[in-house]
Amino acid sequence: MSERLTVLLLGSGGREHALAWKMAQSPLVEKIHVLPGNPGMATQDGRIVCVSGNIDRIAQELEPDLVVIGPEKPMAEGVVDRLEASGFTVLGASQAAAQLESSKIFSKEFMQAEGIPTAHAVICNSYDAAVAALKTWDVEDKGVVIKADGLAAGKGVVVTKDRAEAGQTLHAFMVDAGHPVKAERVLLEETLHGREVSAFALCDGERHLPFGYICDHKRVFDGNKGPNTGGMGAFSSKDWPSPAARAFIDEKIFAATLRGMQKRGAPFKGILFAGLMVDGDDVNVIEFNVRLGDPETQALLPLIESDIVPLFLAAAKGDLSNCAAPKIADETSVHIVMTSAGYPAKDMKLGETITISPVTNDNTQVFFAGVAARDGAFVNSGGRVLGVTAKGKTLEAARRQAYARIKNISFNGAHWRRDIGGR
Ligand code: AMP
Ligand code: GLY
Repeated sequence: MSERLTVLLLGSGGREHALAWKMAQSPLVEKIHVLPGNPGMATQDGRIVCVSGNIDRIAQELEPDLVVIGPEKPMAEGVVDRLEASGFTVLGASQAAAQLESSKIFSKEFMQAEGIPTAHAVICNSYDAAVAALKTWDVEDKGVVIKADGLAAGKGVVVTKDRAEAGQTLHAFMVDAGHPVKAERVLLEETLHGREVSAFALCDGERHLPFGYICDHKRVFDGNKGPNTGGMGAFSSKDWPSPAARAFIDEKIFAATLRGMQKRGAPFKGILFAGLMVDGDDVNVIEFNVRLGDPETQALLPLIESDIVPLFLAAAKGDLSNCAAPKIADETSVHIVMTSAGYPAKDMKLGETITISPVTNDNTQVFFAGVAARDGAFVNSGGRVLGVTAKGKTLEAARRQAYARIKNISFNGAHWRRDIGGR
């Protein structure tokens, strides 16, 4: 390649900072424009610049060699289809393929039809049908998870503790007009047990390359207490999934999904994220996402030793046949998220100045998310404000470093979990 590449990255969170940071290490790249990005990501590397405006217009203006889409929402709205129709090379899922994430019912029916291992579930098209299904459901033995169809920003799933809570959840999702989640269709699903693992694959529509495994912590407080969040931290391990489970995930989950989507005329291109429940060698899919995870990406990308830009380009162009899976360091990583006081509720304490003391000889990386610039400093402007990743030969070494680095960062009301990577 004679000229260096211009990349356009869509998104603004810690995941996108990690993506921009990693892509900026590629000798192939001239500039990474992040739309809209956040001011924290642009200060660390001159090749990362934030831009604002409409994506179609920005793409026409910049003529990027590669467009990478971070979040799911624009994909579900068809941004990839539009940009590809205008001739751009895009890493991301088409609107049809994004249904794997945007509709829980599409995804469940797909898994059932393709024999992809997943929890037993029934699909209910009305409140009456859901109430009737719950009546005959063996709650004591199987447990019951209620899932609203459609993107619900993590609020559309309740792992219920008993039949009464399941009934209340159905009423809240399907009848209660004042409830934030509104569903015309729901799933009743068996409760799975084990370790939740996020597995990633880079896909070109036909082939895939395994892209790593990470665990995240979803609850806001230590010991997995309190409400669900977007993710309070993440960690990797060299010990799981087992080699047998990895082979199973590759063939029975990723390859099977790509074959099934091709059959439906909606080939999957981009990054496929299988949210798994792993119990020894027994693996089930909880959900599919059509993107990298946040904060999984912040723990994952620092471990990847290969240049990801040629891999992203090849996948976006639809041909990974000459590419090898990225080389992953023989280390572990821990990523700790710092949030604003009050998160995940809406009334958060924002606008607090963030102090970051410099450190030397440090093996950690700060990734910014909900920050704004004010008077030459950063202030917190969102729920998840920033996060720290550390790598280490062992999980304990990585944890120690990450928690030592956190001590150098402060703002009023900052909250973080003290037990990330501790299991
Ligand atoms: P989802 O939006 O599908 O990722 O669900 C949110 C969270 O609910 C998951 O990360 C799991 O922790 C939990 N969950 C969903 N489905 C199940 C299930 N069948 N069994 C146990 N936990 C589940
Ligand atoms: N951390 C989970 C997600 O990105 O959906």
